[in-house]
Parts: sequence; structure tokens; C-alpha cells
Amino acid sequence: MKETDLQALLKDMSLEEKIMQLVQLPGWVFQGDAAVTGLADATGSERVKMLAGSTLGLWGADRIKAIQDAYMKNQPHHIPMLFMLDVIHGHKTVMPCPLGQGATFDPDTVKKGAEVQAKEASADGVHVTFSPMADLVRDARWGRVLESTGEDKYLNSRLVAAMVEGYQGEDPKDADHVAACVKHFAAYGGAEAGRDYTNVELSEHTLREQYLPGYRAGIDAGAKLVMTSFNTLNGIPSSANKWLMRDILRDDMKFDGVLISDWAAIAEIKNWGLSEDFKEASRLAMEAGVDIDMCTDCYQNSLEDLLKEGAIKEDLIDEAVIRVLRLKNDLGLFEDPYHGADADKLQKLALSPEHRDIARDAARKSFVLLKNDENALPLTAKKLAFIGPYVTDNNLHSTWAISCDENHAIGIETAVKELYDGSDVECRFAVGCEMLADGTELSRETYTSKLSDAEKEALLKEALEAARWADEVVLCLGEDICQSGESTSRVSITLPKPQLALFEKVVKAAKKTVTLIFNGRPLELDDISKKTDALLVCWRPGTEGAHAVADVISGKFSPQGKLPMSFPYTAAQAPVHYDSYSTGRPKPTEGPSMFTSRFLDCPNEPRYRFGYGLTYSKFEVSEVKLSADKLEKTASAGITAAVSVKNVGNAEATETVQLYIRDLVGSRVRPVKELKGFKKVTLAPGESKEVSFQITEDMLRFWTMNNCFESETGKFKVFVGLCSCTENAAEFELI
Ligand code: BGC
Repeated sequence: MKETDLQALLKDMSLEEKIMQLVQLPGWVFQGDAAVTGLADATGSERVKMLAGSTLGLWGADRIKAIQDAYMKNQPHHIPMLFMLDVIHGHKTVMPCPLGQGATFDPDTVKKGAEVQAKEASADGVHVTFSPMADLVRDARWGRVLESTGEDKYLNSRLVAAMVEGYQGEDPKDADHVAACVKHFAAYGGAEAGRDYTNVELSEHTLREQYLPGYRAGIDAGAKLVMTSFNTLNGIPSSANKWLMRDILRDDMKFDGVLISDWAAIAEIKNWGLSEDFKEASRLAMEAGVDIDMCTDCYQNSLEDLLKEGAIKEDLIDEAVIRVLRLKNDLGLFEDPYHGADADKLQKLALSPEHRDIARDAARKSFVLLKNDENALPLTAKKLAFIGPYVTDNNLHSTWAISCDENHAIGIETAVKELYDGSDVECRFAVGCEMLADGTELSRETYTSKLSDAEKEALLKEALEAARWADEVVLCLGEDICQSGESTSRVSITLPKPQLALFEKVVKAAKKTVTLIFNGRPLELDDISKKTDALLVCWRPGTEGAHAVADVISGKFSPQGKLPMSFPYTAAQAPVHYDSYSTGRPKPTEGPSMFTSRFLDCPNEPRYRFGYGLTYSKFEVSEVKLSADKLEKTASAGITAAVSVKNVGNAEATETVQLYIRDLVGSRVRPVKELKGFKKVTLAPGESKEVSFQITEDMLRFWTMNNCFESETGKFKVFVGLCSCTENAAEFELI
């Protein structure tokens, strides 16, 4: 449809019809197949279901087509309904969780994964995915760090853009694609003490420099929707924050798509105490420009009254409705209301070998090798014991893989048996302990142990026998699937107690141990790292995670992942991130450090830093060579920073060369380092390659004392290395 047709349609719609375009129903109101019947009480009447503009949480091509048919028959203008779903890291074929995808430092891999998700979801009737989550995360106590690509604004920006490109393709109208929704606007990752659904207090310069770039990158990549966040930002809940939504999102970031609230976030404005009732909450959200009310009846019950009372103008409603109509039009729903939904197509696509290959490749690229003493990995022993709850627990997805079936994931035991089938390697498998301690609180329930003490002892006995028998033990440990994701804040970010106890006993009994960790957030691993020979972080690796593990432990694939988020010694260090602001009293690298910025009982640095990760080889990076030591502010070309990277080890491997810049003097305090570029190089033993980066003036801009983004003349340090801890640097001056 042309814009004029959309405007004509808008003009012809009744007020009720218009308001209902702004209402999103939860999928459960549609019981049965064809059905505009049985509306849940929570959202009102049968009429609501006939008119609501969108639905959340449904999939299934035939079911969605039937609902769409019934809906369009009743909708006075036969306007199609939008079907939205959280396809976060997989619809049927599951990629690694977003934090794992962050560890790939590989936008192409991330984009390919998003393409797979879009293809499968779209064939299954989905029009919009509530992804990517662009929230910057610096506090591992917050369980939703699993859904982010990490602590760095530049890495997030690159990967968020890649996800949007993958989901939407050239044109989301295309049946292989869906519309993307960048969330949660804004700064949800800054929640106080990492506790979900709470306050965020943030200075404007940190907000603009650190937290907003990820969302902006998604918007610049063309995302059709943005979602508000649950938190307050400096005292105002996002869904009521006019400055944030109008001045920043619309005017500054030029976002002209649909702004949807998070689940019930408009109703929560009342809980926050910003309004006495839902009507006032609705007015605040409308004024802020929130177009769709996700799953409450606030808009549905209030907008007409607000209009009658003169508290809002009809223009405000029209502005929101036209955006919703445009989105439907952009998805081509007026021509094909099913958007190519096709059960046969899904049958062919879902979990196809091609999709599994993409998931496997993404997973193995996401694993981060934290330690590898005396080449404990790859495995060479002939007698191997695989021990731990993750040996048999094949749910390597996350709680954000809602529409997929965990039975489609391969478990470690299966993958290892396939790997060594027909070889002279003997393997034993033992669970060793339960995943969780009795009474552990999870997001939805409290875990209750299913085993008697005698059964627990038997598990341990079997594990220790296997450990003693083996030449090398692979411990498969981790968080429970329900310990990370939404509503899983924890003050203690250790492995579950039964697993820690198992670990202690196994390392004592075994000759050599390799520890694999399955996790959705950084964990305290210092003690484990001291006691195990090799340590590999595998995240929540998805459908093909176990095959990816087999590829890596066998040496078919050298690890190449880099930490996208710091792993602290203790959660008490949080927030901890590599790009902290410089201090007036830096802790000296050597000598006495009293009255400097430090902890008495813990290093300032995390245990494992952002950008860190080993391979099966060794690399050397030469000194940084700059093409010039001065950069003119007005020069468009910039200067080049180059290094030579050499593989000095014995295996072919891929390294990620990272460029960091430090602004030595600024009108406002500056971070000690900021990532500005990265490149992957794959080198055979003995091979070397020059890697270079362009440094241009725009990379040096920040939110200055003039309250605008600009660069300031002066000296800058350029670091190039294999981790954020690199001190390999050269200096130049911006003139
Ligand atoms: C989450 C969002 C999600 C929405 C819809 C909310 O609880 O915060 O990230 O997209 O639910 O499922």
C-alpha cells in the first residue's frame, strides 16, 4: 500500500478500531485452532479479540493462518494482525545464547545465525521477533546478561547490527525474514545491584557514550521496532519517559518505527508510583510515544476516556496507529497476511543439516579457552571419563529458546560416543551429582532434590571410580538452565554447591582434568581455574553445542572465542568492566598501593578480562606502527595502526586482533581503554600476517563538556593486541 492509502485507511477507521490497533494480546487468549473464541478474562471481551492489532507468543503456520483468517473476517477494514514472538537465539535450530554469540567477535557468524532464526520463525507464522537485546551489561549478578552480547559498546553495536541485518534481510517483506525489535530501551542492563526490574541511575554522558550506541546501531541497521525497558532511568520508568522516547529515540536517533512497551510495563507505571491509576499511566505512555501496549488493558480501557476528557488529543492516537499500519505494510501483510507462513516449508527448514551446521559453527566459535596447562586440550588420552550433570543433560538451550524442543539438542554423551566411535579411545560417563542443591530458588520454582542420600552417594562413587580409572577427566559442569535469563538475579555467581563438591573430589582423584562450563553469565571461576588443567567456557551453546564440544576437545577445531564480558574474582567486584574511567589515584602496577583506588582484599581487575581467550597455538604481535604521529581533525582519511601477527605455536588457529584507544586528556574523565576495532586472522604454524586498522577522527568523539559528541585535540594512545589487557601501544596527536 502507498502512504496515501494508509492515511486514507486511518481516516476511515473508528476510534475503537484505532485504539485496538495499539493493543497486544497474549497468545494464550486464542485457545484452539481457528479461533476467535474463548478470550481470557484478563483482556476483556470477545470484541477485543476481534480488534486487537497484534498478538505475542504464538507460532505454528496453520494455527496462525486460521487465527489470521478469522481475525481479518471480523476486523471492519480487514486489517491483518501482527504475530510477534521472542525468537532470541533460535526458533527450532538454536544458536548459542547471545552472550556466547558475543564471544565469537564475528558479525558474519552472528548474522548467519539470525538468518536461520528468521527463516524458521517466518515459515512458522511469526512476523516480528523481540530481538536483538542491545542492553550493555557490566554486572554478572543480573541474569539477563545471557541475552546481551556483553559489556562493550563497540562489540555490541557490531553484533546488534548484524542481528538486525540477519533477521530483516534486505526487506522484511521477504518471506524468509521477520522484523526486528531492538530492546530494552534504555539502559536496562544498568539495574542497581544487578537486580531485575529496578532503578537505573546513570549520568547523561555515560548513558550517551556507553549505553545508547548499541540501540543506535540496531536502529541504524533499520530495525522496525523498539521495546521500552522495565527499569526507571534517573527516576522515570522508561515507558513514561518523554525525554528518552521523544527527544532521544525519535529526534536524536531518528527512529520512526513502532515503539512497543515491554510486558505490562505501562501498567507498572502505576506500581512505580508515577500515576495513581492505569488511566494516568496510559496518558504518560501515550505522551512518551509508546505505540503498542504489550499485554495489558491499559490502552484498551483508557484511551477513549482520556480523549473525551481532553487529556490527550486524537492526533496522538493517530500517530501511533499509523506507525502500526506502516509496520504491517512494510511486512507486506496487506498483500500476504500470512507472510509466507508454510508448514511444509518449515518442515524442510527446521533443524535441517544446513541450519545445524550454522549452529555448530557458531557454537564452537563461541567457546572461550581460559586455561590450558601443558596442552591438556585437545584430548590425547586413550582412557577418558566424562563426569558431571551436563554429561547427560542435553538441554543446552536457554529459557529464551521458547519455541524449540530441547529433545532436538544432542547431549555430550551422545556427541562423544559419535566422536570416538570405532576408535581405540575408551570412554566412561558418570553424572556424579545432581545439577542443583535441594531448595535452590529458580525463576519459576524452587528445586527439590529427586534423590535419596544413598542414591547421591552411588552417583559420586561411580564418578570417582571413573575418575581414577581414566587418564584424563572431562568435567561437564554449569549453571542450571533456569539460573540465568529473565528474573534470575543472583548475589552468588558460583557453580551450584553439589557440583562444586563433585569438582573438589574429582580433581583429587583424577590424573588430569579438563573442565567445561555451561553458563549464561560470567561465573566466579578462580578456584576452579587453580585446580583444573584446562578450562573451557561453553555458554548455553544451543542445539549443536555438544557436537561443537566434540570438535573442540578433539582438536578438530581450535578455540577462538574471546570473553565479551569480564569474569570477576567475586560478584562483589560488580560492576566490573575493562573500560572503566581513569582515576585520580590509580593503583600502581608495583610497589605500595595504600590510599590508591583499590580493594584491600581483591585485585581491581576481574579474574578474566574482556577480550581474553586462548587458542591451541601461540601468537606474537609486533610493536604498533602508526602511519603518522599526527592526525588532523579535518582529515577524512585518518591514520593507520599496523602490527604483524605471527603464529609461533604448533597448530593452525584463529586469533582476534583488537584495537583499543585511550584519550589521554579530555574535558571529561575518559575510559582507560575503548575497543575501536577487531579483526580475525587464521594462521598456520610459522605463518605471519600484517593486520592494520584505520583511525579516523569520528572514532575519537565523545560527549564533551559542551554536551555534544565531538573530538578534542590532544594525545591518544593506540593499543593493538589479543586482549583488553594489552599494553602494546603507540601514541599520536589529534591536531
Ligand atoms: C521481557 C522481554 C520480552 C517480553 C515478551 C518480557 O518479560 O522483558 O524481553 O520480549 O517479555 O515476551
